[in-house]
Amino acid sequence: MNHYMRSPSSHPGLREAPVAGIERRIATPSETEGGPGDRWDDLTAHDLDRCASFKCRSCIESRIASVRLGDVDLARIGLGTNRLTNTPHNAAFIKEAIAAGVQMIDTAHSYTGGQSEETIGEALSATTGSFMVATKGGIGGPGQGKPEVLRAQIEQSFGSLGTDRIELYYLHRVDPVTPIEESLAAIKEYQDSGKITHIGVSEVTIEQIERARRVVPIAAVQNEYSIVQRKYDAVVDYCSREGIVFVPFFPLRGETPGRAAEIAKQHQATPQQIKLAWLLRRSPAMLPIPGTLSLDHMKENLAATEIQLSEAEFNSLN
Ligand SMILES: NC(=O)c1ccc[n+]([C@@H]2O[C@H](COP(=O)([O-])OP(=O)(O)OC[C@H]3O[C@@H](n4cnc5c(N)ncnc54)[C@H](OP(=O)(O)O)[C@@H]3O)[C@@H](O)[C@H]2O)c1
Repeated sequence: MNHYMRSPSSHPGLREAPVAGIERRIATPSETEGGPGDRWDDLTAHDLDRCASFKCRSCIESRIASVRLGDVDLARIGLGTNRLTNTPHNAAFIKEAIAAGVQMIDTAHSYTGGQSEETIGEALSATTGSFMVATKGGIGGPGQGKPEVLRAQIEQSFGSLGTDRIELYYLHRVDPVTPIEESLAAIKEYQDSGKITHIGVSEVTIEQIERARRVVPIAAVQNEYSIVQRKYDAVVDYCSREGIVFVPFFPLRGETPGRAAEIAKQHQATPQQIKLAWLLRRSPAMLPIPGTLSLDHMKENLAATEIQLSEAEFNSLN
């Protein structure tokens, strides 16, 4: 059996990474001196003690590199796998993604009829490194969020992934016929027994997140969001304030703004990389999961973390 989260302490690169992500931290006066001032304040509305941390240079730099989920720092670009079928080529691709630096692999019970989870399970059974596999259950129509349905899906995910512990499990959709509290209570049973570490929710409003948080700590929210799909702006801000990782799905979908192509030229980057860089600049809570089956695209997506958009560039894309 395999646990799909290697301890960060076993990975020198991660262990040495500075304090990351969106955890609460109050900067000392010396840290704030000479920092970039208020330029991050437009990213989120946040309270005063968090505001201090947003002005700390070392926090800002570490936030650019990684995001903290629970007690783990993760690279800020992950990999979506909703088109992953179980072929030797795709299994090799998953191994290459981990080797290239992907630390969040996003799958679901429903993806490619279970083949996505199976491929990831087979590919990573003997892989070492620091990474997290997130999966989901409870999508497909009314009744999918009933506790007994979710329990059956979770058990299937353990089998497909070949693991006895899932590091991040999302309720994929709020079931219209089952209160969110009941669905999450079923997932919480697994957290209480140590078989699920962190819990997330997907395609949710702030009100639903708050109801969810009254049942379990919510570590991540996965909603559709991109430079051209902004319906969850308020949820992004809420997650940034509350220390919840925001995982935008379909981060590359939709027409590429002309301005993104212009900015891409200036950075010697691709327009897709600019779309990802915009997301990363939008909030330090952001961990996009672009889906790809191409090794070149996956590496390009990871490299988007190195693109620093100026405030003017960011604003011109808004
Ligand atoms: N929570 C939910 O309800 C939900 C719903 C849908 C999806 N998701 C998750 O979100 C992930 C992302 O969604 P998605 O993959 O459908 O949408 P996406 O990330 O918006 O777009 C993926 C498309 O972009 C292409 N692409 C990726 N990187 C590229 C690059 N660097 N340059 C050019 N093209 C690139 C891919 O083709 P190539 O393969 O050719 O690169 C693919 O056609 C999914 O895989 C899944 O894990 C979650």
